[in-house]
Amino acid sequence: MAGKAVVIVGTQWGDEGKGKITDYFAEKADIVVRFQGGNNAGHTVVVGKKKFKFHLLPSGGPHRKIIVIGNGVVVDPKVLLEEIKMMQDEGFDVDLKLSSTAHVIMPYHIALDGMEEAIKGKFKAGTTMRGIGPAYSDKAARFGIRVWDLLDKAILAEKLEKVVPFKQKLLESLGSTKKTDLQSIVDEYFQLGQNLRKYIVDTPEIINNYLDEGKSVLFEGAQGTLLGIDEGMYPYGTSSNACALGVSAGASVAPTRITAIFGVTKAYTSRVGEGPFPTELSGDIANKIREQGHEYGTTTGRPRRVGWLDAVATRYTRRINNLDGIIVTLLDALSDINPVKICTSYLLDGKKLGYWPIQAEILAKVQPQYIELPGWKQRSDQEWLEIARQQNLEALPKEVQSYLAKMEELLAVKLSAVSIGADREATILLRNIF
Ligand code: GDP
Ligand code: IMO
Ligand code: MG
Repeated sequence: MAGKAVVIVGTQWGDEGKGKITDYFAEKADIVVRFQGGNNAGHTVVVGKKKFKFHLLPSGGPHRKIIVIGNGVVVDPKVLLEEIKMMQDEGFDVDLKLSSTAHVIMPYHIALDGMEEAIKGKFKAGTTMRGIGPAYSDKAARFGIRVWDLLDKAILAEKLEKVVPFKQKLLESLGSTKKTDLQSIVDEYFQLGQNLRKYIVDTPEIINNYLDEGKSVLFEGAQGTLLGIDEGMYPYGTSSNACALGVSAGASVAPTRITAIFGVTKAYTSRVGEGPFPTELSGDIANKIREQGHEYGTTTGRPRRVGWLDAVATRYTRRINNLDGIIVTLLDALSDINPVKICTSYLLDGKKLGYWPIQAEILAKVQPQYIELPGWKQRSDQEWLEIARQQNLEALPKEVQSYLAKMEELLAVKLSAVSIGADREATILLRNIF
């Protein structure tokens, strides 16, 4: 029997707790696969006193699973090698399969990221400055360097001889005074390829073989659906399909092989970077949520913007991902706020909009309409852990139960699990996702 191909994606603007949830479910998986994005992602996994921050490696490492970086990911080889070393220093063997056809983030991509942002002015996304957009641009323009190219110095040199002088001219025209030496970049990236050589494979073959053998594959989305290049709020997002739509192209797995799709949804909303944010909060409530949820970027350390749960936006992401269930996270971080609010519709020019209008210019003008629900009081981490240990929704404060029931109703989707703390154990499982 063919194996299970289960997808986990973010249903908001990223940082929903995908790392925690992927780690939690990785126990039951054979392999864990990243299929898009790059080291713009920051996925936190907490196991007791140990905290892992993954930018490129899939969050299956702490459970010692096989981890795969699929062809749809853009890879900064230096960051990847650092992360591999970090895991090895912690005593983990890194069983990594790195796609030979994933694109490489080169130094000129990183330099161009900041320059493009400066030119964009009010249309800038507030990127993570990791070269993500420029690397995906070169991929689409067929000007990119792929992981496999790093393994053959002649091929690498032949390609870089075309690309580097062009990028150099572009950077100089934008005011850069830094000189790039072609030979040193060829030498450096060939060496990085050598250091990664043992991990490099044809991942489409590997992932499909695992499925043929009946193995369970967990796909870990990065970013969130509302940041997706096609499905999100353009241009205030990232450069890949940051939802289930990205799995087939980014891991070379046919849509019909995917057996289930689950969304991770924060109990409120957060966003790093620029762009309209209809339910954004400021002042005391925002500060309280930011502190309780430690809402500072895992990758850049930037304070995250926070707001009420937006059921209009999340209903849209539930729909286009055709979610089989949602996993609600960070409920504990919404404690000690009374009442709590959920946005159920938008008004545009005085008229009710029941759907997500997608265009940033429209989203900047909508007025969110809210319902209010009673809040709940804060507990210590230990008390939340004890609640989680009972593995029963009824052990939760009754206000939390009502909030979750309202989420299910508004989003028209079933709860699959609930997270009430950063630790792996602070999770209530309601349905097995495999
Ligand atoms: P990701 O990018 O979706 O993996 O999310 P991040 O790791 O960037 O941000 C989520 C943050 O919330 C991390 O610091 C997690 O450790 C933490 N976290 C995840 N779930 C919970 C939860 O239920 N409660 C609390 N308090 N923290 C959580
Ligand atoms: P995880 O996987 C939150 C945001 C950036 C910026 C926009 C484009 O941890 O949820 P990019 O560097 O991709 O060109 O930036 O997207 N962004 C994220 N926001 N979580 C992320 O990843 C993000 N990755 C990118 O802040 O607005
Ligand atoms: Mg993150």
